[in-house]
Amino acid sequence: MIRKGNLYYPTKEFQKAAQLYDKAAENPIKFWEDLANKGILWRKKWQKTFVHKPPYFKWFLGGKLNITETIFESNLVALKNKVALIWEPEPLTESPEYPRGKEKSRKITYGELFSAVCRFANALKKLGVKKGDRVGIYLPMIPEVVIAMLACARIGAIHCVVFSAFSPQALKARLEDTGAKILITADGYFRRGQVIDLKTNADEGVKKTKVKKIIIVKRANNEIPWNKKTDIWYESLVKNQTKSCPAQIMDSEDPFFILYTSGSTGKPKGVLHTCGGYAVQTQATGKWIFDFQPNDVFWCTADVGWVTGHTYGVYSPLLNGITSLMFEGAPDWPTPSRWCQIIEKYRVTILYTAPTAIRMFAKYGEDFVKKHDLSSLRLLGSVGEPIDETAWLWYFQNVGKSKCPIVDTWWQTETGGILITSLPGLGPFRPSYTGLPFPGIKTDILDDRGRSCPVNKKGNLVILPPFSPGLFRGIYKNPKKYRETYWSQYGSKIYFTSDGALRDKQDLIRIIGRVDDVIKVAGHRLSTGELENAVNKHSSVSECAVVGIPDKIKGEVPVIFIVLKKTQPEEKIKPEIIGQIKKEIGPIALPKEIYLVEDLPKTRSGKIMRRILKRLFTGEELGDLSTLSNPEIVEKIKKMTTP
Ligand code: PRX
Repeated sequence: MIRKGNLYYPTKEFQKAAQLYDKAAENPIKFWEDLANKGILWRKKWQKTFVHKPPYFKWFLGGKLNITETIFESNLVALKNKVALIWEPEPLTESPEYPRGKEKSRKITYGELFSAVCRFANALKKLGVKKGDRVGIYLPMIPEVVIAMLACARIGAIHCVVFSAFSPQALKARLEDTGAKILITADGYFRRGQVIDLKTNADEGVKKTKVKKIIIVKRANNEIPWNKKTDIWYESLVKNQTKSCPAQIMDSEDPFFILYTSGSTGKPKGVLHTCGGYAVQTQATGKWIFDFQPNDVFWCTADVGWVTGHTYGVYSPLLNGITSLMFEGAPDWPTPSRWCQIIEKYRVTILYTAPTAIRMFAKYGEDFVKKHDLSSLRLLGSVGEPIDETAWLWYFQNVGKSKCPIVDTWWQTETGGILITSLPGLGPFRPSYTGLPFPGIKTDILDDRGRSCPVNKKGNLVILPPFSPGLFRGIYKNPKKYRETYWSQYGSKIYFTSDGALRDKQDLIRIIGRVDDVIKVAGHRLSTGELENAVNKHSSVSECAVVGIPDKIKGEVPVIFIVLKKTQPEEKIKPEIIGQIKKEIGPIALPKEIYLVEDLPKTRSGKIMRRILKRLFTGEELGDLSTLSNPEIVEKIKKMTTP
């Protein structure tokens, strides 16, 4: 990398991507068409590339494909013996009772993965799963989650993966919304040295849903409750299935998967992706942004329960025929150098992680990084939240040894894949700036009246037609919400991202953060409304407000202000509130602090002024309090929150 002032430029070896931008800007639709032709195996070519009926749009109309055919059939001879998936379990030494023996990790070739996918696909068919059926997947980071997703894709079933650390209630809400009849889960898994009992959570989550069968992967060998009517072991189900299964041929615009994400309201939204556009964008963005080469070992640290795990943990590396590494546990368990050991052990070439992880590694210091050989790394990526300059430089200097470009990638569950980043072959890379829109993507930064903001002025990030092939097509069963959330701020032809942003003189984009009630906790997307709903369910709570406040490691963390119906001792009520959040959402949503307050600052019309509560922590001016009906409460809360 070459430094010029505060900009970093890539060396020559990366520069082959240079022509992409010009070609794409001339004709973005033609540009995506070329990528679709080169990157994906089509059973039938599409007739029309892009159709726009605001706020709806379609790509590759009439095209027929099955994403698993590009992964497997298109390259079977060359890839048969190549490792598709490396799996590293959390325990350093697997216990002898581990069902698969004492192996410490698994390497699964494309050939083996293909057989496993077909076996499971056949098993799902035998259970009656058909094209278009929704299948719930509540699995930890084990290879079977990839097998399950691909098996659904093979037969045209719509997978709905639920993050394994989500609570039974969160699982239930998603199962109810999708109407899934099958749930795939595991007995348990390892996390920070503990066995987490997943099956008990799954049993709780399926109550009163349409789920008729639960398929259980044996992972941790923990004792689990068993229900003869519904439960089936994964192993016994796939044992007698054949290892070939014809691919269900899908239309480009057929639904591919649903993934739930948080929005401004309390209820998570089912983000719906389709087959053709998602496949094209996922393959192409991986190829160009991560510069995938045949010998790459790509480690995307995100859990498969989030969109990053879907797109860059599973589909993008497999569509590009490279090796993807999956790690079951926490990267700093049992020691802070675990992630370095993994890079060293498998000679990882590309590391893709979140700023929270980088800040956590930096906190532990450089010594343990120096003890390990990280020389295999050639490219680094960041995702999920803004990366501050200090974290960027630490990552660049200590992990990438000042030679690896850092692609700071901006995208969302809704966009399906990366839409803004500096390409590794071109740069320039400016710490804390995510970069330029991917070739073929048109963005703008608009003020509240819809005017384009000048350089360095903050505004709202929007995406303009023709958008991208992988942008989601709707909120499952909720067209009203789709229109209201994304296509009403600036009309039905402009996609509103809900992110604040600005651009510099070189047009590099800096993401400031969400302008709605979504907060990013360690890169995980949570809604303050969802948290408030959870807290309000506690019978002692009269009302509450949740705000996200800055945190040195996690970027943002929630704090909760609660007005109780009647006074209660803190030692009693606070653990109950914590329990309530764990029950409703899961441990990722736990607050940094709970404040029991007499009242919440409100406007005269009764609206809670969360903005003022937030400013108590950010050091910003509180602003004019005279519009409040109870300005005196702000001073009281301020005293409580000042250390
Ligand atoms: O606020 C942006 C932030 O993450 C949000 C999307 O979250 P989610 O749907 O969970 O997807 C995360 C992984 C793609 C965005 O609206 N975000 C994502 N990437 C970045 C980012 N903020 C700053 N810089 C990024 N690179």
